[in-house]
Amino acid sequence: MGRLDGKIALITGTGGGQGRDAALLFAKEGAKIVGCDLKVEGAAETVEMVKAAGGEMVSMAPLNLSDEAEVKKLIDFAVETYGGFDILYNNASGCRFGPVTELSREDWDFTLDNELTLIFLAVKHGAPVLEKRGGGVIINTASVAGMTGAGAMPGNVPGGLAHAVTKAGVIAMTRVLACELSPQNIRVNSIAPGLILTPGLEPLVGDPESPFRKGYMNAQLIKRVGLGEDIAHCALYLSSDDASYVTGANFVVDGGLSAAGGAGRAEVPTNTDAISSLSFN
Ligand SMILES: NC(=O)c1ccc[n+]([C@@H]2O[C@H](COP(=O)([O-])OP(=O)(O)OC[C@H]3O[C@@H](n4cnc5c(N)ncnc54)[C@H](O)[C@@H]3O)[C@@H](O)[C@H]2O)c1
Repeated sequence: MGRLDGKIALITGTGGGQGRDAALLFAKEGAKIVGCDLKVEGAAETVEMVKAAGGEMVSMAPLNLSDEAEVKKLIDFAVETYGGFDILYNNASGCRFGPVTELSREDWDFTLDNELTLIFLAVKHGAPVLEKRGGGVIINTASVAGMTGAGAMPGNVPGGLAHAVTKAGVIAMTRVLACELSPQNIRVNSIAPGLILTPGLEPLVGDPESPFRKGYMNAQLIKRVGLGEDIAHCALYLSSDDASYVTGANFVVDGGLSAAGGAGRAEVPTNTDAISSLSFN
């Protein structure tokens, strides 16, 4: 018996990273998966991986979740394929970094659109589907960057302003949605990952000797880099009936980073240029 037997899970951003790990774990636990991503190749690869492991998954790509018409297309696709879904896991996001005086209006707007608005749109059009099935689960991906003043960068390096603002917004949005959607029997929680090794962060974190990684290792209580599976296991718990008494909460999965004061306390010098030019999309 899987923990998600009979459930349909719509997971966004399944083209790699944490979305792929969640698709693999949820499918192993019995869920049928609807995925999507901007990345065509990565999204198709995930479908193949899930199927090769004996699971069931469909996906739409390229699909841009910051475009309302595309979000509606995705929801319709899930309804046409499986009749609806029970779990909406808002994992996808894209953001741009830069110190406040250098951050362009375009980069600011891009980050809001691709980290915050895309969740609003998915919930706006996805919640009625959950309601029709008698209830369900929404998980929103926040970040420790939304909890700590330094944007969770080692050495208080500037650059995480827009990202920190949107992720704090995700945590706030989760609480409000939990209140608003509880009469419809929909539980809404967020997960705030710390440093997680995904393909996008490989250049900064892959090398154990990189100052960026060392900064985090100094600041964390658990001295290893987080993996996509660490987050997927938290999402699995929140999606399952084991969490039937849990809503409106923010689950921090960060190796103790925020409990110990956040990465801003790390004293290892960090390559500011590398961080300022970060862009995930
Ligand atoms: N990796 C970390 O250290 C870390 C830390 C804290 C929070 N997070 C959050 O975890 C989540 C997953 O990120 P990840 O680490 O797996 O990174 P990732 O970049 O590998 O995955 C994000 C995926 O979302 C997709 N995506 C982005 N914008 C999209 C859009 N508009 N429409 C459709 N797809 C879109 C990307 O193409 C990508 O495949 C994100 O919300 C991220 O902010 C990551």
